[in-house]
Amino acid sequence: VLVVPGTGLSRNGFAPRAARAAAAVPPPFSVPLTIPKVLEPTHRSLTTDYYEVSIREAQVEVLPGLKTTIMGYEGLFPGPTIKARAGRRAIVKHKNEMAHETVVHLHGGHTAPEYDGHPKDPIEPGETIDYKYENKQPATTLWYHDHTHMMEAEMVFRGLAGFYIIEDPAEASLGLPTGQYDVPLMLRDSRFDDNGQIVFEMDDFRYRTTLLVNGKPQPYFKVAPRKYRFRLLNGSNERYYTLSLSDGSPLVQIGSDGGLLAAPIPATSITFTPGERVDVVVDFSRYADGTQIVLNTFDHNTTTPVMRFDVTGSAVRDVSRVPTRLRPMRRLGAADVNRDIVFKLDRTTGGFVINGKSFDMDRVDETVKRGDTEIWTVSNPDTQPSVPHNIHLHGVHFQVLDRNGQPVEGHETGWKDTVAVPVGGQVRIKVRYQDYTGRYLFHCHLLDHSSMGMMAQLEVVD
Ligand code: C2O
Ligand code: CU
Repeated sequence: VLVVPGTGLSRNGFAPRAARAAAAVPPPFSVPLTIPKVLEPTHRSLTTDYYEVSIREAQVEVLPGLKTTIMGYEGLFPGPTIKARAGRRAIVKHKNEMAHETVVHLHGGHTAPEYDGHPKDPIEPGETIDYKYENKQPATTLWYHDHTHMMEAEMVFRGLAGFYIIEDPAEASLGLPTGQYDVPLMLRDSRFDDNGQIVFEMDDFRYRTTLLVNGKPQPYFKVAPRKYRFRLLNGSNERYYTLSLSDGSPLVQIGSDGGLLAAPIPATSITFTPGERVDVVVDFSRYADGTQIVLNTFDHNTTTPVMRFDVTGSAVRDVSRVPTRLRPMRRLGAADVNRDIVFKLDRTTGGFVINGKSFDMDRVDETVKRGDTEIWTVSNPDTQPSVPHNIHLHGVHFQVLDRNGQPVEGHETGWKDTVAVPVGGQVRIKVRYQDYTGRYLFHCHLLDHSSMGMMAQLEVVD
């Protein structure tokens, strides 16, 4: 069993109250899974795909028979999926049709700073911004979401999130499951009132008891007896998931935040924290027609069903495969610079701070030389009571060296942009910024924490 050690999963002092789910929440497996629609470009040139997205409030059916007011890209919950090709530019014109400012960040994108969705660059109500994504990075599962100053927790919670998938020929040549057998799954929790309206209160994770997959409560999904690729995204504000299949069979990890792993890694349980992605392959061919397999999460000291796979039909021809080698992993060399980063709840102010400071968008906290290889030691001394944190770096992918001195396993051995910082311990990462100079954010991706100040910025210089 690959349970990531020391991720702070059993939060000392965390006694989940038996928070009641709203009356409107149906029993598990009452509704079918839906797949977010794929956004078509409005036009294309030789080098570029052009997209348009309207950001607006909408009424959508999340819970059966009720209309929930959400904030959504194209008014959808989750937003539409954008499919990009490595090396081909995408220009996404976002129009803010809400009454509140917003800004769009492509999480995991190697994006120039001016298009990275910095909170200093909001889209005002009625305005539009063209975001230019060069997509000069390997195939991977990214996501885009709101990053409004001090508001990202609430605005993402209300629905401003969608998938952004980059594909490339090297990945396509591997023969992994594609098309309808390549399924993005956005996992998150939510809190509803009895009328099915989303209730957001800062840091009230105890009450976010309704689990959603692609915007549906604990859905079922009919699968053929064959291999599927699932692109798992932890889209929760604060929940850590430890996923497993109800029959104990393995999930085969093939990708992490930055794309394919060197080789597939089977695991009977997978832990990931807010913002992280894990791509897995599950082979349903070993199950008879009618078999039901539940994807469970073990967190907050309880096992909760996330969704159910209903195996339907008999043997089909499945030409997809999971090769034993996926993509060579180039290790970053010796480090030029060491940096210490401390994430902490400041008990005197109740604020969340990095190296003692709350986020200030006009302050540069760290200066990084482009091309330098750096080791960051990121620690979390919040043990009494314990408060979990993770770290997300904009504009780059990094490698995880170790956590509390122990090598990491599974998806964490791949390229990462977000990683758990253990409670009362430290994680070490190796990173090299090389694409652009300019200012990038880094922060805790427990979005309620980042919204309360646990964010900083660095400047990449030549
Ligand atoms: Cu997914 Cu700065 O965020
Ligand atoms: Cu945090």
